[in-house]
Amino acid sequence: MNMTVSFSTFERLKSKGVASYKSGEYLAAKTYLVDAAECMVEMAESAKTAEARRQHEELAAELVDLAKDCDKLHQSPREAKARQREKEGDSGSAASDWIVRDKPTIGFGDIAGLEDVKEEIRLKMIYPFAHPELAKRYGISTGGGILLFGPPGTGKTMIAKAIAHEIDATFFVVSPAQMLSKWVGEAEQNIQKLFDAAKAEPVSVIFLDETEALVPKRKSGSSTVMQRVVPQILQELEGFDRTSDRALLFIGATNKPWMLDEAILRPGRLDAKVYVDLPDAPARYRLLEIYFDDRPMADDVDFGTLCDKLKGYSGADVKNIAQQAAQLPFMEAISGSEARSIAMNDVLTIIERTPPSVHPSDLIRYEKFAESGK
Ligand SMILES: Nc1ncnc2c1ncn2[C@@H]1O[C@H](COP(=O)(O)OP(=O)(O)OP(=O)(O)O)[C@@H](O)[C@H]1O
Ligand SMILES: [Mg+2]
Repeated sequence: MNMTVSFSTFERLKSKGVASYKSGEYLAAKTYLVDAAECMVEMAESAKTAEARRQHEELAAELVDLAKDCDKLHQSPREAKARQREKEGDSGSAASDWIVRDKPTIGFGDIAGLEDVKEEIRLKMIYPFAHPELAKRYGISTGGGILLFGPPGTGKTMIAKAIAHEIDATFFVVSPAQMLSKWVGEAEQNIQKLFDAAKAEPVSVIFLDETEALVPKRKSGSSTVMQRVVPQILQELEGFDRTSDRALLFIGATNKPWMLDEAILRPGRLDAKVYVDLPDAPARYRLLEIYFDDRPMADDVDFGTLCDKLKGYSGADVKNIAQQAAQLPFMEAISGSEARSIAMNDVLTIIERTPPSVHPSDLIRYEKFAESGK
C-alpha cells in the first residue's frame, strides 16, 4: 500500500469530517469520520513498528468516538443546538473555548506567606519587567518559564494569577483536559493559536495548570495526541525571542511533578522549579487574618493557638475551616437563636473534625523532588 497517498486521503477525510461536525452537519461528518477511521485501521495494519501501529489504532478509535458523537447529536437536535451555540460564541477568535483570557486582580499581597517564593519570582520575572533599561544593560533576560510545584491547595494557581497582575500581563489559562478532548487532531492548531494570541500582546503569561496532564513522561502508554503535542510546545517555548520588546512568561503548575516529562524541565523551558510548600507559622497566622477578619469573631478567639493547631494544613484547608466554623453560629441564628460571633470553640470543633488534606508522606515526595528534581 502506498503510505503517502493513504495518509493524504486520511487527512482530507478527517478535516472534512471535523469541518462538517463543526458546522452541525452531523450525518455528513459521521460518514467522513468513519471513512477516515477506516483509513487509519488500514494504515495500522501495514504499520512497520508496533508503536506506529498502536498510534494509528488509537487515532482510529478517537475518530470512531467522534463519529458516535455525531450519531447522538444527529438524533438529539436539542443537544446539537446547544453545542452549536457553544461553538458560535468562539468561532473565529484566536483564543477558543479552552483558552481563558483574563486580567487577574489579585496581587502578592493577597497571598499569605511564601515569602521566598515571591522573592524568587520577583527576581526572575518581575524586576526585569519593572526595570527594562537596567535589565538590558546587565543582560538580564525577561520572560521564560517557571514550574510551581507542591501539594494541592497551597496557592499555586493564585501565584500564577498574581504574577500576571503584578506585571500587568494578559493571562492565558490552558486547561489540558479540555484542550485534548475538544477536537481530534486539532491540538496542534490549538497550541499554535494559543502562542499566536499570547505573542500578539505586549506582555502575556501563559498558565498551564495541571502541567502533568499535558506533558507527562513520554512512555509507551501515553496517547498519540501527547506525542505530537509535547514536542510542539517545547518548540514554541524555545522559539520565542526573548530579546524582543514583547514578553511572554510561561508558568506551569503541578501537584505531581514527578510525572512530568523531563524534557520540559530543561534550560529554556520550565527551567526554574519553585516549591510551593505548606504554609509556615507566620503564613498560617496571615491565612487566619485573611479568612476570619471579615467575619464577626468572639474575644476568646486566639490566632496564636489556632496557628499551632493548624500545622500541616494548607491554605485551602484554612479557608475551608473558616467557612465551616462560620456556619455553626449561622445555623443557630437561622433556627432562631441570637446571632452570636464565631467563638474559639467553633473553630476548634471544626479543626478536630477536619484532618489536613495533605498527608505527611506526600510531603516527603515533594521534598525529594525539590532536592533532586525526581
Ligand atoms: N498562600 C495562600 N494565601 C491565601 N489563600 C490561599 C493560599 N493558599 C491557598 N489559598 C486559598 O486556597 C484556594 C486554593 O488555592 P489554589 O487554587 O491557588 O491552590 P493550588 O496550589 O493551585 O492547588 P492545586 O494544586 O489543587 O491546583 C485559593 O483560592 C485560596 O482561597
Ligand atoms: Mg491550582
